Amino acid sequence: MAGKLAINGGEPSVSFSNVTFPVYGEKEKELVLKVLESGRWWRGGSLEEQRDSVSGEFEAEFAKFNGVNHVLAVPNGTVALELALKAAGLGPGDEVIVPSISFVVTGTAPLLVNAVPVFADIDPETYQMDPADIERKITEKTRAICLVHYGGYPADMDRIMQIARKYELKVIEDCAHAHGTEWRNKKVGSIGDAGTFSFQMSKAITSGEGGAITTNDEDLFYTSYSYHHIGRLEHKGFYDFYLPAWNYRIAEFQGALLLCQLERYKEQLEVKHDNGEYLAKELGKVEGIKPLKRDERITKRGYYFFVLRYDKSHFNRIEKGKFIEALQAEGVPCWGAYGKPIYQYPLFQEMNFGDKQCPVACPHYGQTIDYTATKCPNAEHACENEQVVLKHHALLGAREDMDGIVDAILKIQKHSKELK
Ligand SMILES: Cc1ncc(COP(=O)(O)O)c(C=O)c1O
Repeated sequence: MAGKLAINGGEPSVSFSNVTFPVYGEKEKELVLKVLESGRWWRGGSLEEQRDSVSGEFEAEFAKFNGVNHVLAVPNGTVALELALKAAGLGPGDEVIVPSISFVVTGTAPLLVNAVPVFADIDPETYQMDPADIERKITEKTRAICLVHYGGYPADMDRIMQIARKYELKVIEDCAHAHGTEWRNKKVGSIGDAGTFSFQMSKAITSGEGGAITTNDEDLFYTSYSYHHIGRLEHKGFYDFYLPAWNYRIAEFQGALLLCQLERYKEQLEVKHDNGEYLAKELGKVEGIKPLKRDERITKRGYYFFVLRYDKSHFNRIEKGKFIEALQAEGVPCWGAYGKPIYQYPLFQEMNFGDKQCPVACPHYGQTIDYTATKCPNAEHACENEQVVLKHHALLGAREDMDGIVDAILKIQKHSKELK
């Protein structure tokens, strides 16, 4: 730990020498080749054909993994959200409560179905949507809560489901960060009306691009099935169309990768969970760094990232950005996450695309939507001052790597004057 900071030419604290991402091997090569040589590169037209495909096999396995009755694989996590909201019946003028911090599409997905996002602040100790603020934001027009399990830490599903029942709201769980995360032994994505997943390249399970909807609601499943299949109904003819809809079918190559990656993930999840628990315990001892709050109701942690809450007053008042640069130089894969709350993007602040009027402001709402007054103080503080995140694949490292992360932080703290 002693010695010169790596950013100033010293030795890095940690190497993660055994970590690669994505992890793949013979199984992936064999199955992708099998799909190639089969000549069947799409999953088919009828429900039966689609189920009897590699993608269908993945859906069945992912349903088992998540403890849900239905899974629909789709090309990415963005369309998974769009379809889930559409199939849950959200439409023009409906208000949907969304998180203030997430990847942008958790906030913009309601706009894709002509509904109106309303931003809720986060709990400063968990970074998840604050149920009290969700309740404050409910109006006559609210129809749904579209939450994210930010970083893989679960939202407070007890309180959120209570609120949803009280106000008769749909709950869509964006699980793009939270593959395998459990709340009271139930996988996220199996608690609300629907869950949505992303399998894009940076995610814990990946096929380069990919996504899925999970649900126990048969109607929601068949409606999203129809919307993803150009409006076909499950047992009707291939050239009969019942809804104006998209082609959001996944390709068999993606299904092949996903089937193999899911199998691998079961073991990776345990490694990440255990390393995350260890790291949280060790970081809890470092002044000026707080992991997210421990909560007994979280029975398994999947990760997109591991959040460190940085307090510069213990680091010689070095700004967060500089701390991140120094930590990266020490060999720790980290970043500042999304940088600002979603409502601060030009999309919401200026409501335009370049010089064009923004077409996404809901035309059916009956009033102008002004996001310039939106303020979520906890989210703003987290983004500006506090949030540093470790990339999930770091948690695939050995115990020495976890110790190396802690050493790197302590080294930066000790030498923080040299960063001035
Ligand atoms: C929280 C969250 N939701 C949705 C998405 C969208 O997924 P995709 O990139 O697969 O469209 C992402 C992707 O980064 C995400 O992080």
